[in-house]
Amino acid sequence: MPNFIASSIKGLNLPFKKDNVEFLKIAKGRNIDFLLTKSGNEEFFIAIKEKDNKFVIKGEKLTRPAKVGLLQKALEVFKDEFCDGILSEAFAVKKNSLTQNKDIIKSEKEALEELNLAKFDEICIEVGFGSGRHLLYQALTNPNSLFLGIEIYKPAIEQVAKLAIKEGLENIILTNGDARVFLSLANSNTIFKIYLHFPVPWDDSPHRRVISAEFLKEVQRVLKKEAKFELRSDSRAYVDFSVIKFLDMDEVEISVYKNRNLEVSSKYEDRWKRQDKDIYDVILTNYQISLNLDKDNEMEFDKLNPRKIALNFKNETHKFSDFFVHFEDIYKFSDDEILLKLSFGGFDTAENRFIYICNESSSYFINKPLKTEKNLKAHQKIGELLKQWQI
Ligand SMILES: C[S@@+](CC[C@H](N)C(=O)[O-])C[C@H]1O[C@@H](n2cnc3c(N)ncnc32)[C@H](O)[C@@H]1O
Repeated sequence: MPNFIASSIKGLNLPFKKDNVEFLKIAKGRNIDFLLTKSGNEEFFIAIKEKDNKFVIKGEKLTRPAKVGLLQKALEVFKDEFCDGILSEAFAVKKNSLTQNKDIIKSEKEALEELNLAKFDEICIEVGFGSGRHLLYQALTNPNSLFLGIEIYKPAIEQVAKLAIKEGLENIILTNGDARVFLSLANSNTIFKIYLHFPVPWDDSPHRRVISAEFLKEVQRVLKKEAKFELRSDSRAYVDFSVIKFLDMDEVEISVYKNRNLEVSSKYEDRWKRQDKDIYDVILTNYQISLNLDKDNEMEFDKLNPRKIALNFKNETHKFSDFFVHFEDIYKFSDDEILLKLSFGGFDTAENRFIYICNESSSYFINKPLKTEKNLKAHQKIGELLKQWQI
């Protein structure tokens, strides 16, 4: 994450605009302030933390823009205009990261929209593409299909985007996030193939595995009839675990292969092959046609009173059978404009979000949570709890 440390901040009069970067307003917290920033067409916070008479300045994690170059540019402007005594800095504005990656790296919302455009014959998804060798190979050899790579580890996204640009690939998009959540939002009966190659086996904590009954329910829902989900793994324990889960599904066919050679070998695969490990493929073919998602719920809030909520705010957690809500912190733009930080949702797929509350309206800030079943339940609870604080 790009950042720098300054010994002082001077003359921060807001709003301020320079070089396509705007600093709009600042929310003050107990330990950290958030500067609302617009760079290019993205909005995000710059986090300013004072410690031992020094200021650590960096992008705020939850609102970090998909294009890291926009954040780097904003930090550069902030440093030049408002900071003195730069003690250290760890960022550089790379010309390419501002523009070149922009068509390939998508937010989850943009990626979902892209899947609905039907510009390609088929849509294929790779979950956790890592170094991207397999994803790039598939995109290169199937120019009429769109390949969406979903990766939870951000640096892999930037790296693979660069490689895709170098290859001139126009049928690949990448999104940063948890594939388990992403699939629960994609439209039913739309995907031709889902690859899951060498997932982390999590032998000691199977609940953290990508594959679960819940995930497979979403896989089957989004796959077209006769479309395939492909697991490739060196972990016999993971394969056994997965086959048992596959056998619980209706209207599927399961094929298992051992030591099958593919045209492309990933970094992990090379490592296991050098160690003479067996590699398994389990391929699930779906024969079910699924119902469409109900997308009506808009995740909005009734009118809220910022002063009363600020007065009654408590750092507290509410646990329910399959979801939770945790109120983490409060920040103030002014007495009539506040920001709450929360985490909520499923125990394994928690989301972190801000809620912006002013007298006129309240909403998630900057992005809405993904509309998963558990987030919807949590959202309803958050609305109820906030109303209680207004009494
Ligand atoms: C062991 S690596 C394998 C990478 C690549 N598929 C390969 O074969 O070289 C597992 C990858 O999955 C990613 N990952 C783990 N859980 C994920 C999730 N829930 N959603 C998306 N990516 C995930 C990790 O960040 C990591 O890059």
